Amino acid sequence: MTRSRLEDPRPVAGDRVAAWMKAKLAERGLTDTDLTASSCEDEGEGPSPAEQAAQKRIPYDYRHAVASHPQVTAWVNRIASGAVAPDLGGRGRREIAHGPSLLLWGPTGTGKTHQAYGAVRALTAAGCAARWQATTAADLYGAMRPRPGVDVEHQLRRIVRVPLLLLDDLGAAKPSEWTEEMTFRLLNWRCQNRLPTLITTNLPPVRSERIHPQARVLRDMVGDRVLSRLSGMCEAVELTGPDRRYAAA
Ligand SMILES: Nc1ncnc2c1ncn2[C@@H]1O[C@H](COP(=O)(O)OP(=O)(O)O)[C@@H](O)[C@H]1O
Ligand SMILES: [Mg+2]
Repeated sequence: MTRSRLEDPRPVAGDRVAAWMKAKLAERGLTDTDLTASSCEDEGEGPSPAEQAAQKRIPYDYRHAVASHPQVTAWVNRIASGAVAPDLGGRGRREIAHGPSLLLWGPTGTGKTHQAYGAVRALTAAGCAARWQATTAADLYGAMRPRPGVDVEHQLRRIVRVPLLLLDDLGAAKPSEWTEEMTFRLLNWRCQNRLPTLITTNLPPVRSERIHPQARVLRDMVGDRVLSRLSGMCEAVELTGPDRRYAAA
């Protein structure tokens, strides 16, 4: 096709900017899908960009996790139906607002982390969990250790405020006054602001007659103040059964 004299032979400005951005992203090993992931609504068939981006951040073992526990699916439905769109005249992605949290507890290998990632995937698929973060409690403490050149307070503020948080394996790390304080600051804010949080732990939350007197409970590991916030914000979901890792081996 021949161009008329009035046509600019160069790509239009928008295309040039897009090409420039693509090149810059490629330098960092990213694609433009990674960028749009946090701002696009699900359109049409197939996984949305947000789902695709979420998938990459989920550990390999849990990339196809499906939340099948009735209490977990009920929670997902409740959080998804409470998600709100920003006041942009109907435009803009729905975002998780306020809601209850879940404490998934039970022995190792019963599927707690699987259920938690299944819930994150379901909320992402429902188009309302573009901003979420997952960490084990031990990794969180590691990342928050004060060290030169890192503004850990800034990092803590970010994770404390993320709309959806998965805090995996609470109570597994060796406790100290410092870990208790970190956990308290994180959960106190999230409790006071009703920010949905999925927490998993291998420990029963509190002592009962079912528990061996010498066995540890979550309260022993995180302290009374944290346990009080957990009981204020969470519905407890007990997972039982054999260790699925042994069953799979
Ligand atoms: N409902 C499920 N269907 C299929 N695989 C599962 C299911 N629940 C757990 N698994 C698998 O079993 C293993 C243990 O589950 P995980 O969630 O890590 O247990 P926990 O967090 O309770 O220690 C993992 O490899 C996980 O992928
Ligand atoms: Mg786990």
